Amino acid sequence: MRDPFGKLLLFGATGDLAQRMLLPSLYGLHADALLSPGLTITGTARSSLSDAEYRDFAAKALATHLPEDRKDEARIASFLDRLQYQPLDASKTDGFGALAEKLGDISDGLAIFLSTAPSLFEPTIQGLASAGLAGDNVRIGLEKPLGFDLASSCEINDAVAAVFPENRTFRIDHYLGKETVQNILALRFGNSLFEPVWNATGIDHVQITVSETVGLEGRAGYYDDVGALRDMVQNHILQLLALIAMEPPARFDGTSIRDEKVKVLRSLRPIVGKDAANLTVTGQYTGGASSGKIVAGYAEELEKPSRTETFVAIKAHVDNWRWQGIPFYLRTGKRMTERRSEIVVQFKPVPHSIFAERGGVLQSNTLIIRIQPEEYVRLLVMAKEPGLDREGVRLREVPLNLSLDHEFASTRRRIAYERLLLDLLEGDPTLFVRRDEVEAQWHWIDAIRAGWDAADVKPKPYAAGTWGPSAAAGLTERDGVTWNE
Ligand code: BG6
Repeated sequence: MRDPFGKLLLFGATGDLAQRMLLPSLYGLHADALLSPGLTITGTARSSLSDAEYRDFAAKALATHLPEDRKDEARIASFLDRLQYQPLDASKTDGFGALAEKLGDISDGLAIFLSTAPSLFEPTIQGLASAGLAGDNVRIGLEKPLGFDLASSCEINDAVAAVFPENRTFRIDHYLGKETVQNILALRFGNSLFEPVWNATGIDHVQITVSETVGLEGRAGYYDDVGALRDMVQNHILQLLALIAMEPPARFDGTSIRDEKVKVLRSLRPIVGKDAANLTVTGQYTGGASSGKIVAGYAEELEKPSRTETFVAIKAHVDNWRWQGIPFYLRTGKRMTERRSEIVVQFKPVPHSIFAERGGVLQSNTLIIRIQPEEYVRLLVMAKEPGLDREGVRLREVPLNLSLDHEFASTRRRIAYERLLLDLLEGDPTLFVRRDEVEAQWHWIDAIRAGWDAADVKPKPYAAGTWGPSAAAGLTERDGVTWNE
């Protein structure tokens, strides 16, 4: 373990993310004695709350969001003791002096977690610098949205870089904190089995699906300006793609891994002009049934018509030697049939089937990496059905199952933010997104959006509770590929 950091400062301390994820995650670390004993957590936001009121607020968040078996009164009480609160209007520099005073001595280090509206990034960074809260021993974690296109993301990154050098800037993509996402590295680089066939010779195509059943969840103001492409593909899905497609890094460290990821992101074949309409499908959900309930359509939830996509499917390519000609089908959407994040790697068929003349039908091998809600790695392989085979050989696809839920049943699954907050405190950048990665991501996304605008692409309706518009099936079926559903 690296040097423990002395203090943590949470912006957006009364927000939804703080309540659902950050406070429960910090409690999880505290309860397992992973935070240094003297570490204080200072929350800040606009609301005018006293320390005691913020502790009450945090206690309620824990009561609502912690699983019952994690609630331990004594530990909750000692966790709340670490908390204090300072109201702040981050748009003005003058309040930052009082914030610095509240924090007190930061000579043992300060980690800042900044989740704020894009318009507040610049003033916040300037405020921190003006109050002496940006020195060599201060690290900053940045939560999305970090801009809405390449230009605005560069603006935010420049504002941050003027005060915090890249090695003290930790951009968060919470998918990288998920256990099964990190398991992609273990699977690919901890086993000799896969690497020899992990290329255009061995693999037919890759599918990445992140489907959700939730709708707007009260985030209309944010989501309607953003849409599925920016909300999910620009970050989470492209990070998954990079981990699947990258070359083996030489070391398990922030530089080696991120060097390899950025090469993949820069090798994404640009989808420009007419291709934006041909290689993508967008959709917007209408009313339907989701998770057994009748739900309203997007426009009804929003209370106005909108052209924002709540679903997107893309046929992507990585233009390098390893992946030449291999499609990566990506899709994500709200209000879909089920919540599922998974990667499907479809291998090529055997070059010649010895079973054909005996009536045996082969299917090519498939590797399924299920990230959530279950965590497993499943390899579908061909096996012979038992029998004397007088009427021909009967072959069947059977799963080789690595259930991570089952194998590691006794290990508690942590919230992605537990891992990321601890890494931020300890200064390990491996699971954070480097500036060049973010820029390569936006570069690719912006071209798609420009193509949509030029071709006046409108999202196609799909009923809530389905797998998206039927055109999404068409996107793969014209290549003879079916989505794994
Ligand atoms: C966030 C998006 O980044 O990820 C949300 O803004 C989305 O719209 C969420 O719901 C999904 O995260 P998870 O961990 O539930 O898959």
